[in-house]
Amino acid sequence: MRKKIVAGNWKCNTTVQEGVELAKEVSELVAKSGVKNVVVVLGTPFTHITSVVGAVDSQLIDVAAQNCAADAKGAFTGEVSAAMVKSTGATHVILGHSERREYYGETSATLNKKVALALANGLTPIYCCGEALSIREANEQNAYVKTQLDETIFNLSPEDFSKLAIAYEPIWAIGTGVTASTAQAQEMLAYIRGLIADKFGKVVAEETSILYGGSCNAKNAPELFSQPDIDGGLIGGASLKAEDFLGIITAY
Ligand code: PGA
Repeated sequence: MRKKIVAGNWKCNTTVQEGVELAKEVSELVAKSGVKNVVVVLGTPFTHITSVVGAVDSQLIDVAAQNCAADAKGAFTGEVSAAMVKSTGATHVILGHSERREYYGETSATLNKKVALALANGLTPIYCCGEALSIREANEQNAYVKTQLDETIFNLSPEDFSKLAIAYEPIWAIGTGVTASTAQAQEMLAYIRGLIADKFGKVVAEETSILYGGSCNAKNAPELFSQPDIDGGLIGGASLKAEDFLGIITAY
């Protein structure tokens, strides 16, 4: 059975101290709730990871970086390598988020290097894809997302591919308060699962966790998560308040 995953993406928010408090709160609430069937991930800034790993119950909470370098090591001022991320105790890394593609020029070529290094270091990539509003309006979202996958993670071996999770995040829904409708989200995730089946076979497709992201909150999560192909969420704004985030974690 594929895993259900609810991953917070804190983006560039919270100081280390605030982040540790938030992480502790989430960990305590998850413990109290008794939720066991959901992989809960906190995607924190690099600076926070070690402290957050130390502050949470590792049986209940995994920690992710939001990026890693495209090179293994060396003279790359300001970069944080996959090996460094791994050495913090993080288990996951969010890669290819639309904000990184848009503001930091991440291309498929860069992402191929990052995904390979993440996997080589034993990190689970949460690989993001999703279209802009203009592409959705032109009804070209399927072809666009297919290209994003064809150029990157669909080049992996089936063995490596089976180690990652995918997050579909339509750019027009991120931080806007506009969620994709349940039908739109389910339709795209089913489409992605079909592409995986064509490429890697039905068994791999059935085992791949595919998440929805974009203005997901405790209110809309139950309906979204009730869909057959939606295996969880990548959560921005609503992951910054422990109670709100718990509401999503318990939405199954
Ligand atoms: P949002 O962000 O939940 O604030 O829309 C989601 C994301 O960018 O991962």
